[in-house]
Amino acid sequence: MKICCIGAGYVGGPTMAMIAHQCPDIEVMVVDVNEERIRAWNSDNLPIHEPGLDEIVAARRGRNLFFDTVIDDHIRAADVIFICVGTPTKTFGAGAGRAADLRYIETCARRIASVAEDDKIVVEKSTIPVRTANSIKRILKAGKPEVNFDVLSNPEFLAEGTAISDLLEPDRILIGGESERPVETLAAIYGRWVPRERVITTNLWSSELSKLTANAFLAQRISSINAISALCEATDAEVGEVAHAIGMDSRVGSKFLRASVGFGGSCFQKDILNLVYLCEHYGLKEVAEYWEQVVKMNDYQKRRFSHRIVQTMFNTVSQKTIAIWGFAFKKDTDDTRESPAIAVCQDLLNERAHLKIFDPEVPGSRIREDLGCEDDEGKVTICHSAEEATEGAHAIVILTEWDAFAHEDFAKIYQGMEKPAFVFDGRNIVDLEALKALGFEAYGVGRGRPGTS
Ligand code: NAD
Ligand code: UGA
Repeated sequence: MKICCIGAGYVGGPTMAMIAHQCPDIEVMVVDVNEERIRAWNSDNLPIHEPGLDEIVAARRGRNLFFDTVIDDHIRAADVIFICVGTPTKTFGAGAGRAADLRYIETCARRIASVAEDDKIVVEKSTIPVRTANSIKRILKAGKPEVNFDVLSNPEFLAEGTAISDLLEPDRILIGGESERPVETLAAIYGRWVPRERVITTNLWSSELSKLTANAFLAQRISSINAISALCEATDAEVGEVAHAIGMDSRVGSKFLRASVGFGGSCFQKDILNLVYLCEHYGLKEVAEYWEQVVKMNDYQKRRFSHRIVQTMFNTVSQKTIAIWGFAFKKDTDDTRESPAIAVCQDLLNERAHLKIFDPEVPGSRIREDLGCEDDEGKVTICHSAEEATEGAHAIVILTEWDAFAHEDFAKIYQGMEKPAFVFDGRNIVDLEALKALGFEAYGVGRGRPGTS
């Protein structure tokens, strides 16, 4: 069997590497229009940072895992084609700011239709609005009526930073389809390493909608606990204690209740907005408003965090130096898409602070690009260690939960900082009491009222 995956990104690369790893007899070809990305996949310096990925790519690349910019030949040769391209929020025209921009999906469908010569199974791996399979089927059928295309929905649930373990032991594999044979073909691939009871099949539309719903529910939990974190700060309740207490109820569950500076990542916001747009499209105004609140709460949380920093630092950070620890949207990834760090740093820059930023994986060039300050105008300094960022700083702001941050030598760091030295932990990873004992004024999210450090 031959697989071709269109899109060598955060999903296409790791997912195909796992299939190649588990199925040595299947030839897996990952193609992309982005030459630089493909070059990186073929080098020792992979284009994405993901624990455990280097090892499995090194083991399979050149054997049954290949990366190429030649697309048509590999589509033609494949039995199964995964579409794994981006589906960002539309920035123009009808639905701008909400609807999914499906132009990359459509380009893939048209390309498959134009080059395929025999029957293909086409798998939607990208996250798409419910009923997109219908559009794909129509494009394929119109382009090549003589070829039989089976379109399946097989959304991906991996999270960045844990992609390899998520792929190795997924909670479930979801396959939506209309006829048994192609569904079984795909189920058999996953069945090589995923217990069969975890491979569930549904109709196409349930599968498509389950992906948007899963992300909406996950993000909703974060916004819910973040909403409570604001109340904790007003009342001296501790959000970690509240989360622990409610999470022990098995109906609530303990995961995804970490209060934070806000959720980031390329998908939560985009997928909820997409859900909101779909609800509006179907005339379900109340449902749309209900889900939109999850995004609004997240925006509020990011703003609230930067506001708290300014307020606590005597209502001004102008000309003050602030050490920013972490820029990725979560630990163990170099991805900064929709990272809450971008919003918080921009707020602080608007307040005329000078930022010294350190992230162990995000390149400085990307940080500058995300902040729109590509020239070194003295507002942003990229640092090579967490400690370096704190030299002469008035405050440390923790925006990504990199494990190493909790183990820095805070006693030494304190010596090198302006006084009073502040810590604002947007991820609740450091021991605030220990920092206070060293002399810091230390704050977390949902822990302690402002001014009571
Ligand atoms: P990405 O931007 O990292 O990768 C997409 C790739 O597709 C890019 O490299 C781009 O060059 C390529 N591409 C676009 N059009 C192409 C074309 N016509 N031919 C060939 N290549 C083309 O995106 P991603 O993070 O991998 O996400 C892909 C999809 O998976 C999205 O729909 C996303 O919502 C979904 N998803 C992402 C994650 C995640 O953790 N990032 C998890 C689950 C689902
Ligand atoms: C998320 C989902 O977890 C995946 O199942 C899904 O496949 C993926 O989106 C997608 O569709 O793209 P991801 O965004 O990679 O994965 O990472 P998460 O672990 O979900 O974290 C998202 C954001 O929420 C991060 O900024 C994280 O720091 C934040 N978060 C997470 C919290 O603030 N609190 C929590 O308790 C959990």
